[in-house]
Amino acid sequence: MMPKIIYGTAWKKDQTARLVEKAIRYGFAGIDTACQPKHYNEEGVGLALEALEKQGLHREHIFLQTKFTPVAGQDPERIPYNPDAPLEEQVRQSFATSQDNLGTDYVDSLVLHSPLPRFDQLMTVWRAMEAIYDQQGARQLGISNCYDWAVFKRLYDEARVKPTVLQNRFYAETGYDQELRAFCREFGVVYQSFWTLTANPHILRSRVVQELARLHQRTEAQVFFRFLTQIGIVPLTGTTSDQHMQEDLAIFEFEIGADALPRLEALLKA
Ligand SMILES: NC(=O)c1ccc[n+]([C@@H]2O[C@H](COP(=O)([O-])OP(=O)(O)OC[C@H]3O[C@@H](n4cnc5c(N)ncnc54)[C@H](OP(=O)(O)O)[C@@H]3O)[C@@H](O)[C@H]2O)c1
Repeated sequence: MMPKIIYGTAWKKDQTARLVEKAIRYGFAGIDTACQPKHYNEEGVGLALEALEKQGLHREHIFLQTKFTPVAGQDPERIPYNPDAPLEEQVRQSFATSQDNLGTDYVDSLVLHSPLPRFDQLMTVWRAMEAIYDQQGARQLGISNCYDWAVFKRLYDEARVKPTVLQNRFYAETGYDQELRAFCREFGVVYQSFWTLTANPHILRSRVVQELARLHQRTEAQVFFRFLTQIGIVPLTGTTSDQHMQEDLAIFEFEIGADALPRLEALLKA
């Protein structure tokens, strides 16, 4: 089962192991990483999992998600597979690196970091991910940074193993992915959001969020995260702060009343 909020590990460099260990000990049950040394220290996640295992917090109780990042998203100096190999081999090598980094045979979710320039290339990569799924290396598959409804729908139609995760930047520029999110709801795809706080200071400052924060005695960030979980979105949070980790987990201690939800939903349509 995917947790309702996930701890993201981007940009944490040599602090990754320490922060992931702390996040899980505070109560996060899901981790998002990527085989992309440019932004993620996947090995650090593996070190945290190893340390947690010794403390009795077992791998099988942690939802672990990693990504295959195409060459365009990699630092040319640190590509974790052979960039000259065929695409399907790049996926295999990247996943083998992830297994090694994470010290695990399987991940709960394997996500394609972004669509490839051509749809046939995307499908070649997807078929390689399906093979990993077939071999029980990944329990579900997903895609990220896919903002074109037609591309997502075509992938959904052509995939043998359907995408069950869509991880996107959640911001006004894409109309908060209204159409994509409707598709996700209809077909049981989990929509994961990132940039959720960073891209939306105007929402945090909005009258309705301020009122609800006062009513529930919570922060604006907690109100926004809680709202998103109530409409079925799984937010990612990469906080490095102890206080924010605890606040992000405490969003399940309160519930926004049904009467307030339409006012909040309206913020995503403005
Ligand atoms: N698929 C992709 O291409 C992609 C791209 C970007 C990110 N991601 C994933 O998404 C994760 C989250 O990234 P993000 O871009 O959303 O940013 P983020 O790393 O979560 O940072 C957002 C900001 O929010 C603050 N924050 C967190 N919780 C808060 C709270 N309760 N109250 C107030 N401030 C709070 C953080 O500051 P403090 O540290 O001080 O709390 C930070 O400045 C990443 O780690 C990564 O796993 C994926």
